[in-house]
Amino acid sequence: QLADESVGMQELLISPLRLEPHPSLPLPADLFGSHAGARANSTGLDLTVPAHREPLLAALNTTPVPVVPEADVKTIPGAYAACASSYQIWSKVPVEDRAVVLRRAADALQAAMPQFCALLVKEAFKTWGDAVSEVREAVDFLRYYADEAQRIMQPISCPVVANAQMGYQYGVTGETNTLRLTARGVWVCISPWNFPLAIFMGQVAAALATGNTVLAKPAEQTPGVARAAVDLMVAAGVPADALQLLHGAGETVGAALVAQPGVAGVVFTGSTQVAKIIQRALAAKDGPIVPLIAETGGINAMLVDSSALPEQVVDAVVQSAFRSAGQRCSALRLLVVHSAIADGVIEMLQGAAELLLAGNTADLATDLGPVIDHEAFDNIQRHIARLKKESKVLLAPAESAQAATKPIANLIAPHAFEVDHIANVKAEIFGPVLQVVRWDGNPEDVIAQINALGYGLTLGIQTRIDSRAQALAAAAHVGNIYINRNMIGAVVGVQPFGGEGLSGTGPKAGGPHYLYRFCAEQTVTVNT
Ligand code: NAD
Ligand code: ALA
Repeated sequence: QLADESVGMQELLISPLRLEPHPSLPLPADLFGSHAGARANSTGLDLTVPAHREPLLAALNTTPVPVVPEADVKTIPGAYAACASSYQIWSKVPVEDRAVVLRRAADALQAAMPQFCALLVKEAFKTWGDAVSEVREAVDFLRYYADEAQRIMQPISCPVVANAQMGYQYGVTGETNTLRLTARGVWVCISPWNFPLAIFMGQVAAALATGNTVLAKPAEQTPGVARAAVDLMVAAGVPADALQLLHGAGETVGAALVAQPGVAGVVFTGSTQVAKIIQRALAAKDGPIVPLIAETGGINAMLVDSSALPEQVVDAVVQSAFRSAGQRCSALRLLVVHSAIADGVIEMLQGAAELLLAGNTADLATDLGPVIDHEAFDNIQRHIARLKKESKVLLAPAESAQAATKPIANLIAPHAFEVDHIANVKAEIFGPVLQVVRWDGNPEDVIAQINALGYGLTLGIQTRIDSRAQALAAAAHVGNIYINRNMIGAVVGVQPFGGEGLSGTGPKAGGPHYLYRFCAEQTVTVNT
């Protein structure tokens, strides 16, 4: 029975049920550990198996978080000079040999899974499931960019092109033409705290694989993970001057790195606001035009029509909005659900979300941990207070039961609010806060309203009408679209990740076009 009036009979080619095995509702509290993580990253680790989880838990006590001194901005010109000099050597190392170094780093990281998971739990408050997925993603980035650099950095011969069928050709005989990619120089890599290993490692690996050298600035909140990552890369064979860590505040160290003369490119992942600051700073610099790769945030929506399966929708919403305490750029912020099924979905969602255990992430049973710091906590709480006044409260637990007995700093349980219009959702709330809007009428209009928000990172579509799913996906100005599943956990090489509009410049991380942006192109023409 469909309540979507815009669906004609010819469109009622309902796709067969292709449900992942999903828990029957109410959802069990180990949802995040058992389901999405296993699907998103095939780590081979199952935390319910004692032999798998015990080395991880043991590493918690034996892995100290490295203490990283803040860089003095006065040292940046010297760091740049050493990095530029190292570039003269590293860029001439054959791409095959650079790839060997990255693969060696990947193997070492995989072997050090327990220690890196422990660092992620201790410094970034990751759950164990998220930590395992993140280490795996970092390993994947190292291997993928090693493979990709080898693939794309082979010179391409460009012969005369003859289109016999159409009767024309272009090119000149008597010459040979070769197109090749070269490194650009010293890159500044600026990364966020929410994937302090995977995004940090992904940026760095891409730059190094293509023969560039790197000045890396991790987020202020997570320098210890970055220190351990750099040490591992250097032990694997990356020259120390080719990869230098400069920890410190974005406004000082980050800004000074961007302003440093001679920098060949900047790759940034973080907020839209800071991406624009960096873009303006680069544009104001004298000298060459410096490329910027910016991967930023999103107001990510999921559109649910009346043919969707409520259990599947709720499973996907809980994963997408509340896993990682909502601190993923890909996370669901805005659920747009058809009014015919909205009441049922909301009721089920309330029941499922209440079962999630918010608590200390060192505890294996925890589903979502605290948000990263007090500043983030205050900011999210301000949005919650505003939404309590402006909208209908769907989910607003006073505190989780665990927090009541043993207070945990910066813990925020899942919240949900019903708002009147998509246009009222103006900011990315980077925490476990979901806004819900009901819709009627034409789903293309809903997509137009989502497009009008200006972001374009992830979109979920829940429908059993295949033609509708494809039409809506085609109309959306969004980088990653997930149909009838959750919308987080893009897998390197398989789901190239990144957005458009306010969500970033592209190219997509973990995709076949990413490394081109780190390279210059050179055409060599020889008169034969
Ligand atoms: P942020 O923009 O505050 O900081 C990101 C990095 O930029 C940090 O290292 C910070 O120190 C640095 N920085 C801050 N000001 C700077 C300046 N003036 N010059 C140079 N560097 C500066 O973001 P955050 O709070 O660390 O991360 C959360 C944001 O990142 C969210 O908006 C999230 O959506 C986004 N994000 C996007 C992706 C993606 O792939 N699209 C992935 C993860 C996070
Ligand atoms: N790549 C991360 C995800 O897809 C941000 O969730």
